[in-house]
Amino acid sequence: MKIDSSLNHLTPADPENQRTILVVDDEKNVRNYLSKLIEREGHKAVLCHDGSCGLEKLQNGGIDLLITDLRMPGMDGLELIEKVRMFDKEMDIIVITGFGTMEIFIEAMRLGACDFIIKPIERDQFLRAINRSFAKKSLTERLVARTQQLVQSEKMATVGVLSTGIAHEINNPNTFIRTNLQLMSEYIKRLKPRLEDINNAKNAESVRNIILTEFPQMINEALKGTDRIQKIVSGVKHYAYKSEGMLDEDVDIREVIAHAVSLVRAKLRQHITISESYLNLKEIKGDFSKLEQVFVNLLINAADAIEDKVKEMRALGDEGFKGLVDVSATIIEGDELNNEVTPDFLVLTFQDNGTGISKDKLTRVFDPFFTTKSVGVGTGLGLYICYEIIKQHGGAITVQSTKGEGTAFIIKLPVKGAAAETKKNAENNTPDHV
Ligand SMILES: Nc1ncnc2c1ncn2[C@@H]1O[C@H](COP(=O)(O)OP(=O)(O)OP(=O)(O)O)[C@@H](O)[C@H]1O
Ligand SMILES: [Mg+2]
Repeated sequence: MKIDSSLNHLTPADPENQRTILVVDDEKNVRNYLSKLIEREGHKAVLCHDGSCGLEKLQNGGIDLLITDLRMPGMDGLELIEKVRMFDKEMDIIVITGFGTMEIFIEAMRLGACDFIIKPIERDQFLRAINRSFAKKSLTERLVARTQQLVQSEKMATVGVLSTGIAHEINNPNTFIRTNLQLMSEYIKRLKPRLEDINNAKNAESVRNIILTEFPQMINEALKGTDRIQKIVSGVKHYAYKSEGMLDEDVDIREVIAHAVSLVRAKLRQHITISESYLNLKEIKGDFSKLEQVFVNLLINAADAIEDKVKEMRALGDEGFKGLVDVSATIIEGDELNNEVTPDFLVLTFQDNGTGISKDKLTRVFDPFFTTKSVGVGTGLGLYICYEIIKQHGGAITVQSTKGEGTAFIIKLPVKGAAAETKKNAENNTPDHV
């Protein structure tokens, strides 16, 4: 989007930058004047004479910016802002105010207005205000798009890290499929002379045994191998799949953990045991693929910390150290306390007995690009992305760690998903813009 530095405003909008602005004012000449300014800038104006009309237009959607007068007969500007904020927390709202209405103006800002224009309205003042709003909106949109890109590229980087392990994992079952097929072909060679003399009772018995007992066992083993490969491939496909950010799938958390574990299995195998415990589980609302990305990150971090611990212990002459990662999940049922209903939560912990994290680093682990791994090994984005994904789900992720003993990541997710949290916030009506 182009910015005209003299006025700090967008040059007349080409169609892709065109926005729709709703003007709510009871004075016809103000509406007409603003409508002209808006259209001259290449945007579209929608006009309303009071709050109820404005509310209806906003509910129908398609409005990018609301400009409203405060004093109007019928539904006034304050009531309109209050009602809009109940269903739209993001809408930019500019209020039109006179010098004599400071108290109402402050109330409007408290309710969620973002900017103001003072009457009598001057062209430059007005254009600056709307262009500030659009520049902010376009920055936010770019930030959201950038975060999505970051999530996807971190995911792809993890697929890269995992690929050596995955190749190894696929090689194993492939070896036993191949061995069983080779064996079957050997047996078929041996069957031939026996089939030619099938009247011999000993030959008949041996053929029978090979066809009815040995072959089914070999076929079974080979099928298990193909199953294993299919699972690994579908795991990678699932993981690499670019989620559209919908957070309303019914998600079975056990299944997500199983997917994540099978993806990192190769890295976890040598000295590491992974145990899972589940209590009182039910499906939650969320995004399978994004949650899987979180769990894969946490498991890889745990595996790395254990590898480091194994090296430390070996240097001290202890060869027998066993790494443990314990994953547990439980639902904490909601409660009714003092008439306030708290929703059901899923609590997940990923606990390892790796190196642990020193106190000075503990506060930085969720920062983007914070890593203690060597260049080219860690990007330092893993936990930042986990934090963002859990936040998008309306949840929280925290860490507890003791240097030398191990680390636990604790995730709290609303069972009903991010929507439940949004609704709760709307009910509490705590504006973000005070
Ligand atoms: N389970 C853990 N045990 C010990 N240290 C950990 C653990 N998890 C994270 N850390 C520390 O937090 C840092 C940041 O982790 P994060 O996952 O964000 O990045 P990374 O693992 O270094 O790189 P990547 O972007 O590849 O994930 C790690 O470098 C490590 O020092
Ligand atoms: Mg990591």
